[in-house]
Amino acid sequence: MDKFLIAGENRLTGEVSISGAKNAALAIIPAAILSDGVCRIENVPNITDVSCMIHILQDMGAKVRSIGRSAIEVDASALSTCVAPYALARQIRGSYYLLGALLGRFHHAVVTMPGGCNFGVRPIDQHLKGFSALGATYSLDGGMVDVSVDELTGANIYFDGVSVGATMNIVLAAVKAKGTTVIENAAKEPHVVDLANFLNSMGADVRGAGTDVIKIYGCDHLHGTTYSIIPDQIEAGTYMAAAAATSGDVLIKNVIPKHLESISAKLEEMGVTVEEFDDAVRVTRSGRLNKCNIKTLPHPGFPTDMQPQIAALLATANGTSIINETVMDNRFRYVEELKRMGAQISVDGRLAVIEGVDHLNAAPVKATDLRAGAALLVAALSARGTTQIEDIEHIERGYEDVTEKLRALGADIRRVHVPEPAVPCAI
Ligand code: EPU
Repeated sequence: MDKFLIAGENRLTGEVSISGAKNAALAIIPAAILSDGVCRIENVPNITDVSCMIHILQDMGAKVRSIGRSAIEVDASALSTCVAPYALARQIRGSYYLLGALLGRFHHAVVTMPGGCNFGVRPIDQHLKGFSALGATYSLDGGMVDVSVDELTGANIYFDGVSVGATMNIVLAAVKAKGTTVIENAAKEPHVVDLANFLNSMGADVRGAGTDVIKIYGCDHLHGTTYSIIPDQIEAGTYMAAAAATSGDVLIKNVIPKHLESISAKLEEMGVTVEEFDDAVRVTRSGRLNKCNIKTLPHPGFPTDMQPQIAALLATANGTSIINETVMDNRFRYVEELKRMGAQISVDGRLAVIEGVDHLNAAPVKATDLRAGAALLVAALSARGTTQIEDIEHIERGYEDVTEKLRALGADIRRVHVPEPAVPCAI
C-alpha cells in the first residue's frame, strides 16, 4: 500500500505546467477507432485512467505507439473485436466512450457498465436514449451493455438533463451515421469542444460544440490526423486551490484562462488574486480567505470536479459558506475525512454548510475518489503537522506527476510504501 506523507504549512511558490485534459483524452483516444488512418495525439496526460484506456485499445487489436512522454500514435485499423475487455473496461468510467466509437465503426459494441468514481447513482440512460434515436437497439445483461444497429441514421435528440458523457458518446456514434444528427440540451464543457475539434481534424463535420445545440453531418470515412489535447481545467484549478491554501504565489502555465473563469471568479470572491496571461494564470494570496457560496453547474457554471478542492479551502475561510452540489447525487464523501482534520462541515443531501476554522490539523485520511483525494491534498498542504493520505491510486488516476509538481513548488510531500499489516490467522 502506498501513501502520501505531506508536511503542511509550506508556502507554494514558483511555476507548474498543466498536463493534457483527462476527460478529453478519455474520449479522444477511443475516437481514433473511427479513423481509417493513424492518429497522432499529443499532450496526452500520463495518468492511470489514460493508460487503462490505451491498454483497452491494445487488447482489442489496435497498435498504440508512445512518442516521447506525452504523445501517442494510434492505428486502430487492425482492431478485431467490438467487445471491450471486461476487466480493464470496468476500471474506468470513460470506457463508455467505447460504445459510441465501436458502434460508429462496427455497428455493434459490447462494453461493461462503466466504473470510475462512486458518487451515487450514475445512470447511462441518456447515452442509450441517444443510441436508440440513431436506430440502435440495446440490452443490459450481466453488467454488460450490448448495443447494435444495422445502419446508424441521423436523428434529433433532446437530452432530459445535461450530460457530458452522453453528449460525447452520441457525437462519436453520429459522425458515422447516415444524415444529420441534432443534439439539443448538449453539454458545453471544453472537452466536448475538444472532441469535436479532434473529429473535425479527421474529416468529420461537427458544428456548434460549446453551445447547447450540436449538429453532426454524418460521413463514411474519417482519415488520420495529428491533434493536441487541451490543458486540464481541473488539474489547473486544483493547483490554483493549492496555491491559495498555502498563501502561495504560483504561476500555472499551459492553461486556457477562459476555461478557468468560474474557478478564478470564486477564488477572487474569497480574496485570492488571480492574474490572467495568454496561456497562464498567477495565483497569489495574502490574508485570510473570505467565506463564499458555491453552486455546481454544467459548464460554464462552477465545475462539480472542483467542488471538493474548494470545500477544502473554505474549511479555513472566515465565516460560513454553503455548497450546493446540483450535478452529482452524492459528492460529499470526502467531508468525513476533512472532519478528521478539524474541518466543521455538515451535510444535508446536496447541501454542505462549512463553518470556517482557524486552521486544519494533520490526520490519517483516505482518498475516497479522485477529487476527494485532491481536496485532501489541498487541505494537507495547509494543515499543521504531517498528514497521511491513503488510497492514493484514486489521485493518480487524474493527476500526472503530482508529487514532483508539488515538490517543485516547495511542498514537503513524499510517496511512501507501507507493507500491508499481516492479518492474524483465526484459530
Ligand atoms: N446522468 C443521467 N443519465 C445519463 C448520464 C448522466 O442521469 O445517462 C446524470 C448523472 O447521474 C449526473 C449528471 O447527469 O448526475 C451529470 O453526469 P455526466 O454524464 O455529465 O457525467 P459523466 O459523463 O458521468 C463526466 C466526467 C466526470 C465529471 C462529469 C461532470 C468523464 C470520464 N467523467 O462524467 O469527471 O464529474 O462529467 O462534469 O469524463 C472527474 O474527472 O473527477 C470526474 C468525475
